Amino acid sequence: MGFMQGKRALVVGVASDRSIASGIAEAMAREGAELALTYQNDKLRDRVQEIAARTGSQIVLPLDVAEDAQIDAVMQAIGSRWSSIDVIVHSVAFAPREQLSGSYVDTVTREGFKLSQDISSYSFVALAKAARPMLRPGSALLTISYLAAVRTLPNYNVMGPAKASLEANVRFMASDLGPDGIRVNCISAGPIKTLAAAGIGGMRTMLHYMEKTAPLRRGVTIEEVGNAAAFLCSDLAAGITGETLYVDGGYHVIGMSPD
Ligand SMILES: NC(=O)c1ccc[n+]([C@@H]2O[C@H](COP(=O)([O-])OP(=O)(O)OC[C@H]3O[C@@H](n4cnc5c(N)ncnc54)[C@H](O)[C@@H]3O)[C@@H](O)[C@H]2O)c1
Repeated sequence: MGFMQGKRALVVGVASDRSIASGIAEAMAREGAELALTYQNDKLRDRVQEIAARTGSQIVLPLDVAEDAQIDAVMQAIGSRWSSIDVIVHSVAFAPREQLSGSYVDTVTREGFKLSQDISSYSFVALAKAARPMLRPGSALLTISYLAAVRTLPNYNVMGPAKASLEANVRFMASDLGPDGIRVNCISAGPIKTLAAAGIGGMRTMLHYMEKTAPLRRGVTIEEVGNAAAFLCSDLAAGITGETLYVDGGYHVIGMSPD
């Protein structure tokens, strides 16, 4: 029996089979969870439906997290099928592409800053807010962050403040929902070639640098992030909340690599 048997999980953020959310959906399905998946827009629907078929997900719904009405519609649709939600995975981020290369100070705009905070950070608590009546003691929420929340890196720019805000969101949500037995955690993943990452300038250099300097001397995979996510959202992690778990080959501990 898988360690997520009997859990019902809403996974937001599948865009392709290379998405981190796909790695998470696969791991959770393998461990016995029942899944609901969402797709951001019609262009992504077929791809998400393929992943739903692979993971046995019976519920596939449209969701643009910028729209409260769509968030409410998703919760209503799920509520008509499930009596509770045990897991919510938020694996979503967005910033205007032109702000993800070059000088941070020169490229950032008020609109880009607001948009990246809204889609990449606020939407996590927005999902929790809308799902609140269906969350139960033992429910677990998870989001995906990056090292730029706490360190500077070239090109990541406006997404750095967005990830810092997301990690603060995790702590405030954990503190707020903990007394009701609901856990909130975060995985800070190492760089992985996905659609979202392709929009960030110098991604290839970042991966190469990580392979040379991380303690494990390699990048990480969506399968590895998926396994850690399944653990964090399962009862095996019942004592863990408000945490940022690094799945990055140890890269975040390095001050200077011996090589
Ligand atoms: N790939 C990496 O190197 C890496 C590293 C650390 C953290 N992350 C984070 O992992 C998460 C998933 O990204 P990914 O790398 O799997 O890329 P991805 O492009 O596969 O996933 C990003 C997802 O965000 C969704 N999205 C964007 N705007 C949305 C909106 N308005 N409404 C609903 N969905 C929206 C997209 O549809 C897509 O499914 C992001 O938060 C990203 O910042 C990625």
